[in-house]
Amino acid sequence: METTLIILKPDAVQRGLMGRIISRFEDKGLQVVGGKFMKISDELAATHYADHKERPFYPGLVGFMTSSPVLVLALRGNGAIAICRSMMGATFGFKADPGTIRGDFGVSSSFNLIHGSDSPEAASRELGLFFNDGEVLDWSRPGDAWVYDMSSGTPE
Ligand code: RTP
Ligand code: MG
Repeated sequence: METTLIILKPDAVQRGLMGRIISRFEDKGLQVVGGKFMKISDELAATHYADHKERPFYPGLVGFMTSSPVLVLALRGNGAIAICRSMMGATFGFKADPGTIRGDFGVSSSFNLIHGSDSPEAASRELGLFFNDGEVLDWSRPGDAWVYDMSSGTPE
């Protein structure tokens, strides 16, 4: 099972889209294992987006991410990282396919609603940035018996 870090960005929160976006992930079968409603500090935004520090959009990106509260989620499932990235869609809303979160809910390049970790290494790093020890919970859902085929002993 993989766990990935999702951020519902300030535009998703301000536009009242949190519930609809979370529902998509729950409907898919992913499990919420962590959640935090917070305002991101300048320092945390800078650390989270350190790879983009030299890019021209970086100051605007940090300004946007710290402008208003976000909802941070830890989502778990088989292949959760790639599943979430494909459900998010392409970075820019005007390029994202219909059926994806960015494709269905936005048209902007900067205000693109959602962040998702893009690799296992990024997920591990980002979960550590946003959640303290004990804040990502292991809990079982009886319904998972019908989300995954467990006949081989591992979820398939
Ligand atoms: P994210 O990291 O937020 O999940 O998004 P991503 O992987 O799809 O895109 P990435 O290339 O990592 O860019 C990070 C965020 O920077 C903003 N951006 N603006 N105006 C621009 O040219 C531009 N390019 C990127 C977006 O908010 C993007 O999500
Ligand atoms: Mg990225």
